[in-house]
Amino acid sequence: MLSGAIPSSLGRLPNLLWLSLGYNNLSGAVPTTIWNISSLVFFSVQQNMLTGTIPPNAFDALPYLQSIYIDHNRFHGQIPASIANASEMSLLQLYYNFFDGVVPPELGRLRNLYWLQISVNLLQAREPRDWGFVAALANCSQLEVLEMGANKLEGVLPDSLSNLSTSLMHLSLSGNEISGIIPRDIGNLVNLQNLDLSNNSFTSTLPSSLSRLNNLVELYVTENKMSGSIDPWTVGNLTNLNNLGLSKNAFSGRLPSTILKLAKLLALDLSGNSFTGPIPKGLFNISALSVNLDLSHNNMEGSIPQEIGNMKNLVVINAESNKLTGAIPDTLGECQLLQNLFLQNNILTSTIPSSMSQLKGLESLDLSGNNLSGQIPKFLANITMLNYLNLSFNSFIGEVPNVGIFANATAFSIRGNDKICGGIPDLHLPPCSSQLENKRQKSLVIPIVTLAASIVILLLICLFLSWRKSTSTKIPATTSLQGHPLTSYAQLLRATNGFSTTNLLGSGAFGTVFKRNIESQAGGSTCHVAVKVLKLQTPGAFKSFIAECEALRNLRHRNLVKIITACSSIDNRGNDFKAIVFEFMPNGSLEDWLHPDTNDETAKCLNLLERVTILLDVAYALDYLHCHGHAPVLHCDLKPSNVLLDTEMVAHLGDFGLAKILVETNSILQQSTRSMGFRGTIGYAPPEYGAGNMVSAQSDIYSYGILALEMVTGKKPTDSKFIEGLSLRRFAELGLSGKAMDVGRHPAVFEPRE
Ligand SMILES: *[C@@H]1O[C@H](CO)[C@@H](O)[C@H](O)[C@H]1NC(C)=O
Ligand SMILES: *[C@@H]1O[C@H](CO)[C@@H](O)[C@H](O)[C@H]1NC(C)=O
Ligand SMILES: *[C@@H]1O[C@H](CO)[C@@H](O)[C@H](O)[C@H]1NC(C)=O
Ligand SMILES: *[C@@H]1O[C@H](CO)[C@@H](O)[C@H](O)[C@H]1NC(C)=O
Ligand SMILES: *[C@@H]1O[C@H](CO)[C@@H](O)[C@H](O)[C@H]1NC(C)=O
Ligand SMILES: *[C@@H]1O[C@H](CO)[C@@H](O)[C@H](O)[C@H]1NC(C)=O
Ligand SMILES: *[C@@H]1O[C@H](CO)[C@@H](O)[C@H](O)[C@H]1NC(C)=O
Ligand SMILES: *[C@@H]1O[C@H](CO)[C@@H](O)[C@H](O)[C@H]1NC(C)=O
Ligand SMILES: *[C@@H]1O[C@H](CO)[C@@H](O)[C@H](O)[C@H]1NC(C)=O
Ligand SMILES: *[C@@H]1O[C@H](CO)[C@@H](O)[C@H](O)[C@H]1NC(C)=O
Ligand SMILES: *[C@@H]1O[C@H](CO)[C@@H](O)[C@H](O)[C@H]1NC(C)=O
Ligand SMILES: *[C@@H]1O[C@H](CO)[C@@H](O)[C@H](O)[C@H]1NC(C)=O
Repeated sequence: MLSGAIPSSLGRLPNLLWLSLGYNNLSGAVPTTIWNISSLVFFSVQQNMLTGTIPPNAFDALPYLQSIYIDHNRFHGQIPASIANASEMSLLQLYYNFFDGVVPPELGRLRNLYWLQISVNLLQAREPRDWGFVAALANCSQLEVLEMGANKLEGVLPDSLSNLSTSLMHLSLSGNEISGIIPRDIGNLVNLQNLDLSNNSFTSTLPSSLSRLNNLVELYVTENKMSGSIDPWTVGNLTNLNNLGLSKNAFSGRLPSTILKLAKLLALDLSGNSFTGPIPKGLFNISALSVNLDLSHNNMEGSIPQEIGNMKNLVVINAESNKLTGAIPDTLGECQLLQNLFLQNNILTSTIPSSMSQLKGLESLDLSGNNLSGQIPKFLANITMLNYLNLSFNSFIGEVPNVGIFANATAFSIRGNDKICGGIPDLHLPPCSSQLENKRQKSLVIPIVTLAASIVILLLICLFLSWRKSTSTKIPATTSLQGHPLTSYAQLLRATNGFSTTNLLGSGAFGTVFKRNIESQAGGSTCHVAVKVLKLQTPGAFKSFIAECEALRNLRHRNLVKIITACSSIDNRGNDFKAIVFEFMPNGSLEDWLHPDTNDETAKCLNLLERVTILLDVAYALDYLHCHGHAPVLHCDLKPSNVLLDTEMVAHLGDFGLAKILVETNSILQQSTRSMGFRGTIGYAPPEYGAGNMVSAQSDIYSYGILALEMVTGKKPTDSKFIEGLSLRRFAELGLSGKAMDVGRHPAVFEPRE
């Protein structure tokens, strides 16, 4: 919270290597003396309120400068060409400012440049020569990240883009006014992982060379003027894609049959195009699809394939405004994580399948503008999460329920169905004939009813008074918890034999974990799950419950434990009861494997391959949490007992009770963590965060290093000798700097100390 100007006297520290003033409230200009500290290696003033320009000669006297973070300020003026004189420069982070003018081609002389982030400025390219910097950057052979979205770059993207270094992994040009075709040879950039060309005016079709980019994880071409059909060869090779966004273009033709080869897709958005033909059945073989499937606003025909029931992990399905016909498949009930289903404005017929009553987590359902018929299913009133329901303009008949969602006139719509009756008075529908009958009978029996009612009320008062004395009964009230289907206290109680200790798996600071069997909703088979019951009397346990639910709400990865459901209710003693139900991990925790019970004769030892595989699994989980989720999530309590192993010995990271979500993607921390006291586990938590309570991705990576060390040496880190003097530098020296260390190259989350 430092405010005011940066003191110019700082410029009198002639040996200063590192100047880091980020995340404060500093204002005014950077004093010119700062540009005179020729020893400077690292300069950060990111996330302040600084103004002014960077002087033209700012970089003439900074021969050792390697990294500049000046993002999220109010700097204006040009990016000075003198930057070429800071020849050691490897990282330039200038986004969220008001820099204008052209991007200086002199950047191409920075041979070590690997990170150039100039998004969200007012940088211009009007004429072809303004694009000269792209050809110049081709000389930066280390370039990995090039982001220049949300500027004022116009005109045609030069072909020289394809000549950029093959080490390039992230390229973003979104939110400019770039026209013309996507460079034909973009496929030369074979190591690209993220390519974002969205929100421009690109025309023509996807270049066929894209098929060479089989490291792509994210490809966004949304909101352009692309047209033509998608060549099956172009997309079929992109087998590592997690996200494919082609929405809001004018693509046409059938969806390529090769789409089913994209087995790692988590989200697919093809909305707002002119795709025709049926929904390919193979699409529903992509079991990874979990975040979003959007086919809306196209011209797709035929019926919705039965195979849609394979989408067990999918949360959003949108196929509105197409020409889909036939019935809603009854397999839809198997999509148990579904929260939003939009099928409005199609030509669907028949009734709403009863299997949809299994969609306990459904929040929004829009079936309006179809030709659906039959009764309005009563089970819709029982879906507690449902808060938007639109059944307008169909051919439903019969009684409109008046409970659940049907009790709230603003939450649902039923207009344009001619033969319906009943419902809440706000709907002004005619009463149903059975209600009419009731009314007639009522008028006859009113005196008798009044007398009887008086007696009943007296009896009830007596009963109530006696009930208040006994504490034994109370009705469990299940309240809703955003985003997860809920289960009830009673169900959990039954399934764990009253939380008996024979089902106990373990106990931690905030909760106790039980194993239990549940019957799958489809009936028949049972499966094992783990139930974590929160010890709410422990301070912080409630926060930990919310943290865990929030953290896992938007996360899906093969190396994370899967949350099945959550329960927030009242137990039979009237106390708050909170529990989370997870996938059960038959092989227990890594802790059990590293330090088995000495009496356990059957204890097995992990071999080297298994150890390395587990470490990689954990690293993948961390990489996903830090860099690829909705918002960066820090686990903050990585240790062997939180690494769980499934039947195949695949490691799943669990226990997100201390997790932190970084909001405003990769900038400031969500909230102060001081109130929580010390987080994490002694031995595993990095020293600096015990002292200042500062949470950063570095904490996770430190813990990962300790975990790796423990797996190699077999020693527990509580041994003080083990961790004495251990620093990240020491880790690097030990060579423990694999995948997880790479996460550290994401400098917005992570300062590049090593
Ligand atoms: C930031 O500084 C400005 C003046 O420079 C002041 O008005 C404002 O209150 C400060 N904000 C915070 C959060 O300290
Ligand atoms: C920078 O340093 C040079 C010599 O070292 C000195 O002459 C000059 O005045 C300094 N500039 C500023 C703005 O301090
Ligand atoms: C680099 O510095 C020299 C003087 O040291 C200066 O003459 C030259 O113009 C600078 N280069 C740029 C591109 O500004
Ligand atoms: C790239 O480097 C070569 C030789 O190292 C040089 O001739 C060429 O001018 C440079 N190109 C740009 C655009 O800087
Ligand atoms: C790409 O580089 C090659 C070799 O350096 C050169 O011949 C070619 O003209 C360049 N292409 C473009 C479009 O700049
Ligand atoms: C597209 O880019 C324009 C200009 O940068 C911006 O105003 C608009 O919000 C962007 N739209 C989206 C959806 O990002
Ligand atoms: C698909 O990727 C492989 C491996 O990189 C490559 O050899 C092949 O040429 C690609 N196929 C097409 C059609 O580009
Ligand atoms: C989908 O998967 C099933 C079983 O894995 C397989 O039998 C079927 O052929 C696949 N469908 C397509 C279209 O690939
Ligand atoms: C329900 O759907 C109809 C037709 O699609 C639409 O006009 C109406 O606005 C929707 N109602 C609500 C409340 O969104
Ligand atoms: C709706 O379905 C009925 C049969 O269920 C059919 O007679 C009618 O023509 C359909 N209406 C439209 C507009 O398709
Ligand atoms: C709705 O829930 C109530 C009470 O939980 C239950 O009695 C009723 O059978 C349910 N109705 C449907 C249609 O599932
Ligand atoms: C009714 O539904 C609206 C929209 O979903 C919601 O904002 C409102 O809180 C609901 N009212 C009640 C009493 O549940």
